[in-house]
Amino acid sequence: MDVLEGAIETAREAGALLLERAGGELDVREKGLRGDLVTEADRASEALIVTRLQRDFPGSSIVAEEGGAHRGTGEGRWIVDPLDGTTNYAHGYPLYCVSIAYARGGELIAGVVYAPALGELYAAQRGAGATRDGKRLRVSAVGRVADAMVCTGFMPARYERNSSRFAALSRKAQAVRRDGSAALDLAFTAAGRFEAFWEFDLHEWDVAAGALIVREAGGTVTAIDGGRFEPIGGSILATNGFVHDEMVAALSLAGD
Ligand code: IPD
Ligand code: CA
Ligand code: CA
Repeated sequence: MDVLEGAIETAREAGALLLERAGGELDVREKGLRGDLVTEADRASEALIVTRLQRDFPGSSIVAEEGGAHRGTGEGRWIVDPLDGTTNYAHGYPLYCVSIAYARGGELIAGVVYAPALGELYAAQRGAGATRDGKRLRVSAVGRVADAMVCTGFMPARYERNSSRFAALSRKAQAVRRDGSAALDLAFTAAGRFEAFWEFDLHEWDVAAGALIVREAGGTVTAIDGGRFEPIGGSILATNGFVHDEMVAALSLAGD
């Protein structure tokens, strides 16, 4: 099976599971840092995804947020967030998704972000563009931060690291949002809903699929300081490209 098809099918199944369990008994727990939640649904979604990927792509490795690692024999590597936006999910707020990316030789090849409560499936394949529900996606054409709606995210326990930047962009941009799902924030940037998204302290499963989707929709993805983006690097700035330099400057001026 083609990796993008495999990722889409698997994300749809996992998303259906999340939707079915939404609002039910979730056994919500804190994992470590204040506000870092995990539920029974995260674990069930991950088990489903890992089982499917192992069955359909037995040679590939898998890294998944809740510990479902699997070492394969080939070069391929799946990077999985079985539920991005767990806090939203636990509160019945519909901005949550399944994020599945595939990398080979360190390069992102395919990415899928599926938001079942919105009924939106975002997908991208390296060099072949990005889509939402099969229709081609393009970042927005807004050229100035003053005209932009931008988005950020932060772990509640690490708010201080982002507070001066949040304040600076609240003064500069037309609007700032904090939607609570990094993978979906990236997909929304690819779709032109946001002109930019930035966040510190992320994991590769939060950003791998979304970063490819933004790039394939014509956007720019770097670290927050404008340096090279590494999925395991922890920080991301994704924009429509037109406001990128202005965002780097505004975020670095705001400092820590
Ligand atoms: C979280 C979400 C949130 C972001 C956090 C992530 P999770 O992922 O993406 O928007 O601010 O940093 O950890 O825990 O819901 O998978
Ligand atoms: Ca996540
Ligand atoms: Ca998660």
